[in-house]
Parts: sequence; C-alpha cells; structure tokens
Amino acid sequence: MTEQFDAFAAQCRARADAALKARLPAPDSQQPDLAEAMAYSLFNGGKRVRPTLIYAVGEALNAPQAAGLDTVAAAVECVHAYSLAHDDLPAMDDDDLRRGKPSCHIAFNEATAILAGDALQTLAFQLLAENNELSAILKVALVTRLAQASGMQGMVLGQAIDLGAVNKALDITRLERMHHCKTGALISASVAMAALVCEASDSQIQSLERYTRALGLAFQVQDDILDVTSDTATLGKHQGSDLKQNKPTYVSLLGLEGAQQRADELYREALDAIAEFNDSAGWLRALAAYIVQRNH
Ligand code: IPE
Ligand code: IPE
Ligand code: MG
Ligand code: MG
Ligand code: MG
Repeated sequence: MTEQFDAFAAQCRARADAALKARLPAPDSQQPDLAEAMAYSLFNGGKRVRPTLIYAVGEALNAPQAAGLDTVAAAVECVHAYSLAHDDLPAMDDDDLRRGKPSCHIAFNEATAILAGDALQTLAFQLLAENNELSAILKVALVTRLAQASGMQGMVLGQAIDLGAVNKALDITRLERMHHCKTGALISASVAMAALVCEASDSQIQSLERYTRALGLAFQVQDDILDVTSDTATLGKHQGSDLKQNKPTYVSLLGLEGAQQRADELYREALDAIAEFNDSAGWLRALAAYIVQRNH
C-alpha cells in the first residue's frame, strides 16, 4: 500500500504543480521579484498534502476529474504557501529555513516576502472567482468556505493564538482549538471544497467533515512530534524551533508518548468516520496513515 500511495501522491503533486503553473500570472517586467518570490514559495518542494487530499476526495466520490478540482487544489496551495512565507518572518516564528532552502524573506527580503504572501492570498480567491467551468453559486460557496478557513475564524486566528501563547501554558482544550484553527481549518476547507465540486451528498459531507476534523488535528500533532524527534536535514526546517521559542505544543503538554497516543487516536477516529465508504476511499485511508507516520 505504501508504494502505491507514494505513486498516487507523486501523481497528485505533479497535477497540483501543473494546475498552479497554468494559473500563475506572468511576472511584471518592471518588478519581477514579486512574482519570483511567489513562485519560490509555491514551488520549493512542499509535500502538497492538501492537493493530495483534494484529489483523494475526488477519487472517494468517484469524480476524480470533476470540473474545478484543479482550481481548488491551486487556490488552497496558494493560501498555504502564503501562510508559510508569513509564518517564517522575523515577527512571527523567525525561521530562516523552509523545505531545505532559505525562507522566502531570506532568499528575497522581508518586504517582498510580506507582499508575496499578500499576493498569493488574493490570487487564491481570484483563481476561484475567475474559473469559468463553475457556476456563480458554486464559486461563491467556494470563496466563502476558503475565506472562513483562512481568516479571523480560521488559520489567521490560529496563528494569533499561537503567537499569543509563547511562554505560556495552554490547557489541552485551548491547545486543540489553536491547532484546529491554524492547521485544521485549511485542511477541512480543502475537503469541504472538493466535496462541493464533486457534488457529494449531505451524508457523505458529514462523514468527510468528521474525517478531516480528526485528520487536521493529527497533522499538527505529528508536526509537533517531528519538531522534537526529527532532524533539520530531514524536516527541511529547523528541528527544535517550537522548543526554542517555548511554544505550547502537544509534546510540551502531553509528553512525546502522550502526543503519539493522541495522533494514533485521531488516526483511528479519521478511519472510523469514513467506514461507510467503499474501496474508493482507499486513498483517504492511506493518506491518514501517511499523515501520522510521515517523517517530514
Ligand atoms: C507545515 O505544513 C505547516 C503546518 C501547517 C503544520 P506542511 O507540512 O504541509 O508543509 P509543506 O507544504 O509540505 O512544506
Ligand atoms: C504553522 O505552524 C501553521 C501555519 C498556519 C503556517 P508551524 O509554525 O508549526 O509550522 P512550521 O513548523 O513552521 O512549518
Ligand atoms: Mg508558526
Ligand atoms: Mg513555524
Ligand atoms: Mg511546526
């Protein structure tokens, strides 16, 4: 299964790369560094977990070529790339390494990294709004879902809670809320948007929502675990960054074993949520396993 999943994930990465390349506007000849910094943030070796999830939902719903799936994958990846370019800035996590390369603000400069993030964010919504394969009603639903997940009720709120929690102890409820917002929201939105373009039924949507709620949290639990157990070369980002900044994480709160148990519990919750799906959900199951077993 692992080899088959690796092949599926490689296909998804290639499909997402092609979707992004086809949609990224050409650099401005007077100020090419803005587009260069955007492309740097988009194409510097991300795992493309969110697009893989989107395409796996397409497979689960027997609509792998549904109109709009590629645009959704590209839009979500633009928001994700923007969130990382900003996350690494000196005012936030102050990390100079991302995906084994200098972070965007090191490769360019701080102002360019801020502006590239801003432009990636707005590009995500532009791609959804400009798509001419989708109805106006569907486009509004997609834009709304992505905005809710990205902004002050989602990822940005999670990042604000994260920064506000430096040097503080959070209880598990608050920690999970932070993780649901900063990481889970965009993962949930990826699945919900894919389900929308694939015309999932209400009961399929409910099952997928339960699946992604567990999966999104599991993703950040594993991210916290890797900050402790992995190494900088494998991670492509500085190992020990959370510890150095005294950030509350699953590991700091529950210990390594407790965090691993929580990841396992969430993995089983995710599988349980999609139990009613047949073999077509095989990639969703494999992706859940990958998320809690990955080493970077
Ligand atoms: C890292 O996300 C930041 C989190 C939300 C935990 P990914 O682990 O998906 O990053 P890339 O895109 O593969 O580099
Ligand atoms: C970032 O979380 C989540 C985002 C919304 C970007 P982290 O700060 O833990 O991500 P890494 O570890 O730098 O990738
Ligand atoms: Mg951070
Ligand atoms: Mg960070
Ligand atoms: Mg992290």
